[in-house]
Amino acid sequence: MKIVITIGGSIIIKEYDHQKFKAYAEILDSLKDQHEIFVVVGGGQPARDYINIARDLHGGEANCDDIGIDVTRLNAKLLIMALGDNAYPCVPENFHHALEYSTSDRIVVMGGTEPAHSTDAVGAILAEFVKADLIINLTSVDGLYDKDPNKYPDAKLYTEVTASKMMEFLSDKEVKAGTYEFFDMTAIQMIKRSGIKTIIANGNYPENLLNVLNDKIGTTIIPE
Ligand code: UTP
Repeated sequence: MKIVITIGGSIIIKEYDHQKFKAYAEILDSLKDQHEIFVVVGGGQPARDYINIARDLHGGEANCDDIGIDVTRLNAKLLIMALGDNAYPCVPENFHHALEYSTSDRIVVMGGTEPAHSTDAVGAILAEFVKADLIINLTSVDGLYDKDPNKYPDAKLYTEVTASKMMEFLSDKEVKAGTYEFFDMTAIQMIKRSGIKTIIANGNYPENLLNVLNDKIGTTIIPE
């Protein structure tokens, strides 16, 4: 399969150390012979810290996004470093370059592209661009719940949800640099448009990347 994997910065750079980069590099290594893989890495807390400084300097939202994009690309560079020869050595800054770099038969790792969305949207656009079979969105929760699982112990995890239903959930969320929480609207619109199956799963456990392919974990977004 051709798979686009998005890894939230809140997972991969959570501890400010190399461990998750290494763990993900090992799992990606085990998948690279069976699948063509593209990875999109998020910015995490470092991106939010830099964005806050830019906002205090009255940089304007688009410039704040731009700062966030730079941090996602730094995280992409770290994952490329961890992957060694398994990864194409440069971070593509747009989808054309991502496609071009993929002809090397190596894993392509990128961060953000342009302002006004998150790396979830980058993953969804990239998937449409390269005609992927599957998007795996690794985030810091198990999937989509009917209410906040941190506040409500009886919150129920959806195993499946349509893209249209997800749009309803996201319609009242903020659209500001650093705050494209959980899933942004552009991402879900792109999933609906492209018809590409998407699975959201908990990326705090890198082995979930294998579990997503072998079992039924997380929330599957049905593109309708
Ligand atoms: P993300 O919000 O995608 O990273 O990018 P994240 O922190 O990994 O998200 P989680 O972990 O899934 O919550 C960080 C910031 O960079 C800017 C946005 O401001 C975003 O909030 N960004 C990123 C863009 O403007 N465009 C992009 O293509 C990517």
